[in-house]
Amino acid sequence: MTTPVLSVANLSVRFPKRYGAIDVLDNIALDIGPGERVAVVGESGCGKSLLGLAAADLLPPTAQVTGQISFRGKDVRTMGRRERFALRGAGIGVVYQDALTSLNPGMTVGAQLRQVCRLGSSSTPERLLVDVGLTDTGRVLRAKPHQLSGGQRQRVLIALALARDPDLVIADEPTTALDVTVQAQVVALLRELQEQHHFALLFVSHDLALVSELASRTTVMYAGQVVESGPTTEILARPRHPYTAGLLAASVSLEERRETLTPIPGHVRQPGEFVAGCRFRERCGNARDDCANRPELAPDGPGRLLACFHPVAKEEETP
Ligand SMILES: Nc1ncnc2c1ncn2[C@@H]1O[C@H](COP(=O)(O)OP(=O)(O)O)[C@@H](O)[C@H]1O
Ligand SMILES: [Mg+2]
Repeated sequence: MTTPVLSVANLSVRFPKRYGAIDVLDNIALDIGPGERVAVVGESGCGKSLLGLAAADLLPPTAQVTGQISFRGKDVRTMGRRERFALRGAGIGVVYQDALTSLNPGMTVGAQLRQVCRLGSSSTPERLLVDVGLTDTGRVLRAKPHQLSGGQRQRVLIALALARDPDLVIADEPTTALDVTVQAQVVALLRELQEQHHFALLFVSHDLALVSELASRTTVMYAGQVVESGPTTEILARPRHPYTAGLLAASVSLEERRETLTPIPGHVRQPGEFVAGCRFRERCGNARDDCANRPELAPDGPGRLLACFHPVAKEEETP
């Protein structure tokens, strides 16, 4: 077996000052192989960004972390300072939702790209811009972030993330701030770039339609826990966790963007108010008394994991 680029195991994160002994991320496992595209989905507040930060070794110092976060087989938290620094700089590229806060507002795009390229890149600012579809390079290099459109800024962020040829790119809601048509373009771009450069991709999103465009495997998170994972096509065609089924019923395909269909009742609680056992049970139509115990994540068919006592029934086999 090849060593995963990213391997997260038994990862728990607490913020003792704010939430005491509550696991804001609770026993998370996630592997991404070389050149693989994996999505993490869930509603806002489910811990997706925290997991992305953990994977990028960028959790705030207030976080109390247990478990393993390994990059190419080596535990990030036992690395020396230099190695860890190099990993953050060159091994992993990150693209966040809000380009206006990720970019330096007072510096031209050219200056920001040159700064990163100087740290070591096989490319140039011009080439990077062309790679992300910004062919009007002269103008873009001279522009400050606010002089570009949202879609252009997001492309610049992607160029910056790729400048140092990372093995892993973490894209956290990279298109959420954009119009629907621009969203689709940026997702298509990420996919093309991934196919060209073969980096492993961790795609964080609340949008199942985008996930289906981009990721071969999907992990579904609810309230800091993994509830289900498996091949994206399988998960979307035959969801087993009632939460995944609820997300699907509440979303629309990329082709037929209509208004929300059937929203899941209730909302994700703050970590201080998580219920014991299955954290989804208070919103779940299938919940029974035994859901007050915590369901363990266990194999559920080829390549799939599920944490649920009362899952959505598997379709009857037609004879
Ligand atoms: N630095 C922090 N200190 C305390 N709590 C945090 C911190 N960062 C995130 N959280 C909490 O962790 C939970 C998950 O947040 P987040 O990972 O941003 O969710 P998502 O990206 O899925 O919307 C939230 O309830 C949030 O309040
Ligand atoms: Mg987030």
